Amino acid sequence: MSANRTALYGQPDHDLAPTAPDAVQLSPLVVGSTNLADVDDAVFDAVTVRAPAGAVERRYVLAQALRTLAAGGRLTVFAPKDRGGLRLKKELQALGCEVGESARRHHRICVALRPAVITGLQETIDAGAPRQIAENGLWTQPGVFSWDRLDAGTNALLQVLPSFSGVGADFGSGIGLLALNVLASPKVTKLSLVELDRRAIEVSGRNITDPRAEIVWADARQSGLKDLDFIVSNPPFHEGGGEDKSLGQAFIRAAAAALRKGGALWIVANRHLPYEAILAESFAKVRLVAEGGGYKVFEAKT
Ligand SMILES: C[S@@+](CC[C@H](N)C(=O)[O-])C[C@H]1O[C@@H](n2cnc3c(N)ncnc32)[C@H](O)[C@@H]1O
Repeated sequence: MSANRTALYGQPDHDLAPTAPDAVQLSPLVVGSTNLADVDDAVFDAVTVRAPAGAVERRYVLAQALRTLAAGGRLTVFAPKDRGGLRLKKELQALGCEVGESARRHHRICVALRPAVITGLQETIDAGAPRQIAENGLWTQPGVFSWDRLDAGTNALLQVLPSFSGVGADFGSGIGLLALNVLASPKVTKLSLVELDRRAIEVSGRNITDPRAEIVWADARQSGLKDLDFIVSNPPFHEGGGEDKSLGQAFIRAAAAALRKGGALWIVANRHLPYEAILAESFAKVRLVAEGGGYKVFEAKT
């Protein structure tokens, strides 16, 4: 482990919890970050966590963070009140911590020293660790997008996906469901799965062993890919806890830039999301392929 003795999980908020500028970043949503699960026990003096909203994921992160603290090390955790903040204190107490709690800007901030014994450490880590879904054998992990069920948007896209050929990409590939379907076509020669969440990268690597697949831990808005024949995407539309339509719009622009002339983007969107104008601006031809169940699927050609 590096000599740096402080760590941070998630984007800092210096107003809620001052963090050293050189803290080791542990969030799976930051490309290049350190995997919390790989950090040795008792190496940090202080860890700050922007706690995720999902309960199983959050408890896993809290347990792992406590594990990485040296004796007497300090854990600072914060979350919006309505996105797990109100549960932080109890969750830390359940792990054996004595907790100081404060409130600021609709957040709860909890501070705890590493207890001598972390209660239920292994069970909490096991509950949030990667696992295989019994029904389909796919690997997933709590916290990854739609980790325990098929997303309705993904399903809408799967219903109408054509059989592709050539070189393509899946922007925001998650655990690899769409990619698996794309690779069912023998005419696909290469498929890049571009994904920001390291946990999704890891499990999709287990789900997809096809040598035509390349799994890329990167921001799809800066994938660097060029001259692709096709792209599929069920783009994200949440960032930092809120809806962010600009994310999907940026995916559309990035897809247009990564396709060859005449290349096609197949994209699904919630019906209420305003993607039509960006699609029309970025592509020569846009076709609404399907609409229903709250979703729209478009084919857009450069
Ligand atoms: C709506 S999900 C779709 C996942 C998968 N393709 C599916 O259909 O089940 C969007 C995915 O995009 C990922 N993501 C979010 N922001 C991203 C970014 N800037 N670059 C690449 N992937 C991103 C999320 O982690 C998530 O896995």
